[in-house]
Amino acid sequence: MRAFSGIRPTGELHIGNYLGAIKQWIELQERAECVFCIVDLHAMTTPYKPERLQKNILELAATYLAAGLNPEKCIFFVQSQIKEHTELAWLLGTITPLGELQRMTQFKEKSKKHPEYVNAGLLNYPLLMAADILLYKTEVVPVGMDQKQHVELAREIARRFNKKFGQVFQEPKALLPKNGEKIMSLQKPKKKMSKTDDPRGCIGLFDEPEEIKKKIMTAVTDRGEIIKYDPQKKPGISNLLTIYSLFSRKSIKELERKFKNSGYEKFKKSSIELLIGSLGSFRRKRKEFLTREVYVKEILEQGRKKAQIIAESTMAEAYKKMGLS
Ligand code: AMP
Ligand code: TRP
Repeated sequence: MRAFSGIRPTGELHIGNYLGAIKQWIELQERAECVFCIVDLHAMTTPYKPERLQKNILELAATYLAAGLNPEKCIFFVQSQIKEHTELAWLLGTITPLGELQRMTQFKEKSKKHPEYVNAGLLNYPLLMAADILLYKTEVVPVGMDQKQHVELAREIARRFNKKFGQVFQEPKALLPKNGEKIMSLQKPKKKMSKTDDPRGCIGLFDEPEEIKKKIMTAVTDRGEIIKYDPQKKPGISNLLTIYSLFSRKSIKELERKFKNSGYEKFKKSSIELLIGSLGSFRRKRKEFLTREVYVKEILEQGRKKAQIIAESTMAEAYKKMGLS
């Protein structure tokens, strides 16, 4: 089974990225052929600083390694280093109706958020994402909930291509984690955690202990004092329970029992301890990888070479089927 996924190098990652995506990747690399990408071309669709981009790419690579991606067990590389991604995106654009791109939730949300910067790249974003996925004949795409719609579009595009020109691509499926497919903001627990919204609602993977403490202590909770999972009536506590459960590997039921008579404050204090402990080792490992730039670049180069072979072969098939040589 082949798996593919990617994250944009737009700055620090948060625990939603980890619990929604990377945590699954670590597990998948043990049982699937995995390709993980740093999608720098996607990072350019919203305002960014060119002089920061290379640094962000290296930091994301160090983060992948710190989180436990093993370059011996998976391929990982930088999207823009393989030209076939943009080439295939063009071909896929010629068989995708405009309406399908315009109805994408992320396009609508991001256009609203940056009305001064609604570029065609933002609209074509899912085509490039479909190219990323299809180029590697991917079957599963481990992502958080917000990317499910894009993966479904990639599936539709693969089906359409195969039907029109002959079988080339696998029809990919999104793989969402059982829990954690949508980690919510600590400040607005009905909205997803995101680094661009209220930063106090978002715990960075590399936040210092003091920041973690402050963010959890000021996290919005709900009326009452009972620790119970009920996303409708108690979205704040339910989100904290989900986070706790995923980091501690204990079930939510078990946690409800454990904190039955604790009250919010005690539960929050225990969450802080757990998070500081879990994220501490990440922070240390990432720091170490950041000092080993040559090594990290070498891993990306090895990944590029392996990915290039697969990308070239799929591209040749697609060209041929479409009547190009
Ligand atoms: P991005 O930072 O948008 O490139 O997202 C990288 C990955 O993290 C994607 O697979 C997203 O679906 C996932 N992700 C982002 N935010 C969250 C969240 N709040 N909860 C769960 N997964 C998320
Ligand atoms: N669009 C994804 C996001 O914002 C990132 C991404 C780009 C991706 N290409 C991909 C994810 C291919 C999975 C597969 O999170």
